[in-house]
Amino acid sequence: TFPTAATHVVTVSQYACQRRTTTENKNKIFTDAFEVLVDNYDFNEVTGPSLAFSRAASVLKSLPWTVQSLDTTHNLPCLGEHTKAVMEEILRYGRSFEVEKILADERYQTLKLFTSVFGVGPKTAEKWYRRGLRSFSHVLTDPSIHLNRMQRSGFLHYGDISRAVSKAEARALGNIIDEAAHAITPDAVLALTGGFRRGKEFGHDVDFIVTTPELGKEESLLPIIIDRLKQQGILLFSDYHPSTFDATRPPSRSFEAMDHFAKCFLILAVEDRRGWRAVRVDLVSPPWIVSPLPSGWTGSRQFERDLRRLARLERRMLLDTTPCSTKPRYRFLAAVTEKDIFAHLGLEYIEPWQRNA
Ligand code: CTP
Ligand code: MN
Ligand code: MN
Ligand code: MN
Repeated sequence: TFPTAATHVVTVSQYACQRRTTTENKNKIFTDAFEVLVDNYDFNEVTGPSLAFSRAASVLKSLPWTVQSLDTTHNLPCLGEHTKAVMEEILRYGRSFEVEKILADERYQTLKLFTSVFGVGPKTAEKWYRRGLRSFSHVLTDPSIHLNRMQRSGFLHYGDISRAVSKAEARALGNIIDEAAHAITPDAVLALTGGFRRGKEFGHDVDFIVTTPELGKEESLLPIIIDRLKQQGILLFSDYHPSTFDATRPPSRSFEAMDHFAKCFLILAVEDRRGWRAVRVDLVSPPWIVSPLPSGWTGSRQFERDLRRLARLERRMLLDTTPCSTKPRYRFLAAVTEKDIFAHLGLEYIEPWQRNA
């Protein structure tokens, strides 16, 4: 086939933060396959190819067209030999044999199952697998396995928290948290972040930012909210992490730089048709001066990674919670809104619903 005009004219950036990616993925057949490969590489702690396939998936997600031939992919970044070989198989046979082999692999299947439990990461899953455990009942009946509090809650509420959370449920939760925050301080501000801010219809959890203009007060916000939820009888699990934020310290260089704000990982009981169900909720509470920056929690993960990567490689800045120049000394830049962050990085503003990279 002849390459279309569009593939010649439109240049696609290698950075997700310079692409507009809606929730409509026209290349799901490829990106689903890549995600299996990424998971498998992650289980084997092979980082290079894992990142490569994550980036390739992200590029394909940004395209307003479906790839129907490799001829149309010449101008696309981040598609290496291996990636193209997998795409070729899918184009030719409708599936990738490499992916099928992984999906049939006992180790992959078991690690996938174990890591689907809240509180179980690849390391724990691997440990259980090495002990010969293959199912939840193996894990739960093995006397040598000690589950931590998070994992016990993960198993207890497994059915509920594996089920997608709807927008309506997210809204209902927003009202509950908003009410709790306002009972503490009338000028509390709550903002929906994460996947729902990006316009997703469903999520695996609901993410919120909550803060207050009164400096320092945000530190006590989460413990009091958690306490209120407990008194209301809807708190099923809580893991609270106090702030370790220090404005005098340069931001982390890591791709995955986590912010240092107070946060908590919760499981809440929300009303539904059959009575109630358990839902995962994340709250983060940054100080007011950085609070207009929901970018750090809006995602997607690939979008955030590429913001940091572009800042570091193309702008000689370190981006954590606010962009910061590296030379001659660390110097935080004044950033008031999310738009300022994009501007500091010399980027066109990308709307939250265009960050589904
Ligand atoms: N995040 C974080 N620290 C965590 C978990 C997540 O900083 N321990 C950030 C992620 O980088 C992301 C945002 O919080 O930007 C939301 O993460 P998450 O809820 O895991 O993913 P969503 O994009 O909201 O997708 P989903 O709908 O599956 O929840
Ligand atoms: Mn989320
Ligand atoms: Mn913890
Ligand atoms: Mn989350």
